[in-house]
Amino acid sequence: MGDKVNFHVFRFDPDRDVEPRYQDYYLDAGLKTLILSALMEIKEQQDGTLSFRTSCRTGVCGSCAMLINGRTRLACKTKVEEVLKGGHTIIIEPLRNLPVIKDLVIEQNEFWEKLISVKPWLITDPNEPEPEKERLMRVSDKVFDQLHAATDCIFCQICYSECPMGAEDNEYLGPAALVRAFRFIKDPRDKGAAERMPVVTGESGVWRCRTIFNCTNACPRDIKVTEAIADVKRAITSGKI
Ligand code: SF4
Ligand code: F3S
Repeated sequence: MGDKVNFHVFRFDPDRDVEPRYQDYYLDAGLKTLILSALMEIKEQQDGTLSFRTSCRTGVCGSCAMLINGRTRLACKTKVEEVLKGGHTIIIEPLRNLPVIKDLVIEQNEFWEKLISVKPWLITDPNEPEPEKERLMRVSDKVFDQLHAATDCIFCQICYSECPMGAEDNEYLGPAALVRAFRFIKDPRDKGAAERMPVVTGESGVWRCRTIFNCTNACPRDIKVTEAIADVKRAITSGKI
């Protein structure tokens, strides 16, 4: 196939396949070509049955997370040159730790259910009078920066896919849910510890994290995921929550 790049893509159609398989697509892809653009070209010009998720194409919706040559990345932010490394083949697979619906499309319910289980919203004391204006967040600049960074999560599920603890125990809440919990646990306006903490400290919660750092290393928003989880652990052991 000459200088063409071989896209070796995971395929699984539950209506047709007994087992997953891989299919090769050869493309004249330059080094600057984005993996998502290559997949769209394959779908438009070679095989309309190939399924994958995409939406914004600018790295903010988190839809196109997938395994590219063994590492979970956003396809719309990854260029051929970043993953080809002198070879001719790019292996494309669905996220780890979540069931496959078809090809590169994974079932996300489990991820969202875990996220919602930590009550990722501000819980205020119903006995306190409503302020006349906004509720000001009175924290140090350092804590503000931490909370601001945690809010930057795009729920791409890359950390969830990269975490080996998720592979070992599919009940584990996972890094994204714990970062979201951290966001509210550290917020002095939040009074939801009694509701949130049983899930966070439960059997599948924060203590399942083994500080492996894959989540931090892979996060496309550069969120210090491991640090946030460690912060939650510290707050629990020091009796602050
Ligand atoms: Fe994606 Fe990072 Fe959010 Fe995890 S913490 S879901 S890797 S943006
Ligand atoms: Fe997993 Fe990240 Fe902890 S990779 S084990 S959640 S530090």
